Amino acid sequence: KKVVLAYSGGLDTSIILKWLQTTYGAEVVTFTADLGQGEELGPAREKALRAGIKPENIFIDDLREEFVRDFVYPMFRANTVYEGQYLLGTSIARPLIAKRQIEIAHQVGADAVCHGATGKGNDQVRFELGYYALDPSIKIIAPWREWTFKGRDELLNFARDNQITITKDKEGEAPFSVDANLLHSSSEGKVLEDPAKEAPPIVYQRTISPMEAPDKPTEISIGFKRGDAVSLNGKAMSPATLLAELNKYGHDNGIGRLDLVENRFVGMKSRGVYETPGGTILLQAHRAIESITLDRGAAHLKDELMPRYAELIYNGFWFSPEREMLQALIDKSQEMVEGTVRLKLYKGNVIVTGRESPASLYSSTLVTFEDDKGAYDQKDAEGFIKLNALRLRTLGQRKRTLKD
Ligand code: ARG
Ligand code: SIN
Repeated sequence: KKVVLAYSGGLDTSIILKWLQTTYGAEVVTFTADLGQGEELGPAREKALRAGIKPENIFIDDLREEFVRDFVYPMFRANTVYEGQYLLGTSIARPLIAKRQIEIAHQVGADAVCHGATGKGNDQVRFELGYYALDPSIKIIAPWREWTFKGRDELLNFARDNQITITKDKEGEAPFSVDANLLHSSSEGKVLEDPAKEAPPIVYQRTISPMEAPDKPTEISIGFKRGDAVSLNGKAMSPATLLAELNKYGHDNGIGRLDLVENRFVGMKSRGVYETPGGTILLQAHRAIESITLDRGAAHLKDELMPRYAELIYNGFWFSPEREMLQALIDKSQEMVEGTVRLKLYKGNVIVTGRESPASLYSSTLVTFEDDKGAYDQKDAEGFIKLNALRLRTLGQRKRTLKD
């Protein structure tokens, strides 16, 4: 039996690795992805070697460009947010991890894949829907749903019995669960489980507090082509480089913090603290460039469909026909979404100050209150309003007759 494990090198996946070896007697292949979580990946290799993994069974891949280009950017074309606020930083990374894990499984001839998500959350669903979509006959091992450890203590005892290093922070262990990548950091659990209590400052790891941000605004400009950000301050950049740069601006100006209670796919509500510095800037900028380049009908239709699209991503249906159909529609809408947006970043705020485009639909001749030289005949509006009012007047008439 050969298993490809999504392995971060952290405590939980180290325990899982050992558990796979002892319980399943499995040959373990570790897969560690660099999604821009900002952690050194060297230690993951060392730890895997120490756990007895053969060098040829250790996979460490830099997926940052693919992540932003093929997952984050397509999602941002739709201005995607879940339940009005969450920018889906964890949700959008799962399909990529699943895809690469299945590729590795095929490459090494493994019959199973394994992940470290619990049986209570969204991530198990996202990983496994991805696995099944890409390999209908793959075997899935989800240790959190299988093993018999009761609580954290038994888990830690297993770690100690097996010489797994338990790296501790000041408190003895991480006070909450964290997932991070180039798009966001998310924190859940433990000190955050009471939604009435404010998150302690240590939860925030990639933005300074807006209160500590500079008293002067920072001005930036973002260039777009076909709905994607392609340049920053006039300089062309690859997707991952651009997002990393935006993250720095966001960090320095306290942008993109969110404290949210959301509805998980499995049914319960959960409280999470998110930081999406660059993504929050990008979302505003994208809406601004769309505001001058998208027709109203197109803009309103994609806004109507967006919550559906967001829910598909949140629920793990990236590799579904309905997500792909919506993506085709969204991508079609972006053909003329190009130009430049100027923004001011100031104490947690993203303020659009200008937008321009060679493909702009904005017409100052049409909209001006000054002399428009016959571009628009105000008399046309009278009939426009009268016909639109026809129903309303008929209804008003009936109300009046029935009252008499
Ligand atoms: N609630 C978020 C989601 O479902 C994040 C989940 C993972 N985060 C974590 N801290 N374990 O997308
Ligand atoms: C987990 O359950 O592993 C993290 C939270 C989630 O997936 O929603």
